[in-house]
Amino acid sequence: MQVHEKRRDIINYVASLKKKQKTIGFVPTMGALHKGHLALVERAIQENNIVIVSIFVNPTQFNNSEDLVNYPRTLTSDVKLLSSLSSNNIVVFAPKPEEVYTEQVSSISYDFHGLEHEMEGKFRPGHFDGVGTVLKHLFTIVSPTKAYFGEKDFQQLQIVKKLVEIENMKIQIIGCPIYREESGLALSSRNKRLNELQLKTAPIIYKTLKQVQKDFGTKSVTKLDEWVSKQFENNEVLTLEYFEIAKVSDLKSIKQKQKETKYRAFIAVFAGKIRLIDNIALN
Ligand code: PAJ
Repeated sequence: MQVHEKRRDIINYVASLKKKQKTIGFVPTMGALHKGHLALVERAIQENNIVIVSIFVNPTQFNNSEDLVNYPRTLTSDVKLLSSLSSNNIVVFAPKPEEVYTEQVSSISYDFHGLEHEMEGKFRPGHFDGVGTVLKHLFTIVSPTKAYFGEKDFQQLQIVKKLVEIENMKIQIIGCPIYREESGLALSSRNKRLNELQLKTAPIIYKTLKQVQKDFGTKSVTKLDEWVSKQFENNEVLTLEYFEIAKVSDLKSIKQKQKETKYRAFIAVFAGKIRLIDNIALN
């Protein structure tokens, strides 16, 4: 498997592919790959001639420096995992920060039409500017036909759709379903840092979301909000940071349902210092 560190190498490679009219699928990641990431790569393999996977822990999207330091970095095993997929058409881009950020390692300040102020935006200031900035740079280098993102980070997915609109980039953004453990826990690179008890307790997050999905048709939003808070009230392992039922279109949370509007439930929970997020479609 080809692993490139230099932006120039990817730019040249992509130019040669474009000359041959090849389509390029792009899966941006921060590494510590798991089956959720691999599902995105497999979908990209099906839909493109060549797939580029970037592995880059982006410093500008971490609002907590401890989280950045502790983020798992496992390039060798990541490359091994990708090699185990039955495709010879995967190329890895694993750059150093100076290859992505040619000038300063800093964020552009974006206006994502309010999407950036909801949920994750409230609790992780600057996070989406960092995500938008790194993706702008990566999209410029890789120049993909299609780029793949997980619904696990649903707010990020909506923001990336807005980003390509704002930056006027001709890239199709594809959202992919959340990949879960049998227990229901959404796969995440951060799960590797959970201890045994936290790992055993964390499936409550998805169980809670499933129940909300079930009750959404019959119970009021206020009742559901209260019920979710109660589920975590006496939990000594997990602390609820936020739970919101929000419109898919603008991610604004609601107190009252309206007809013919699509909703999702979003949740963020702390297990010790490890932050876990999840979401589910409600209708
Ligand atoms: P990372 O957390 O590594 O995730 C890379 C991609 O994998 C994202 O699109 C994410 O939504 C998706 N993903 C993660 N866990 C998943 C799961 N259980 N099921 C389905 N998809 C899943 O998200 C980032 O990196 C970064 O913000 C990035 C976009 C790379 C920009 O730095």
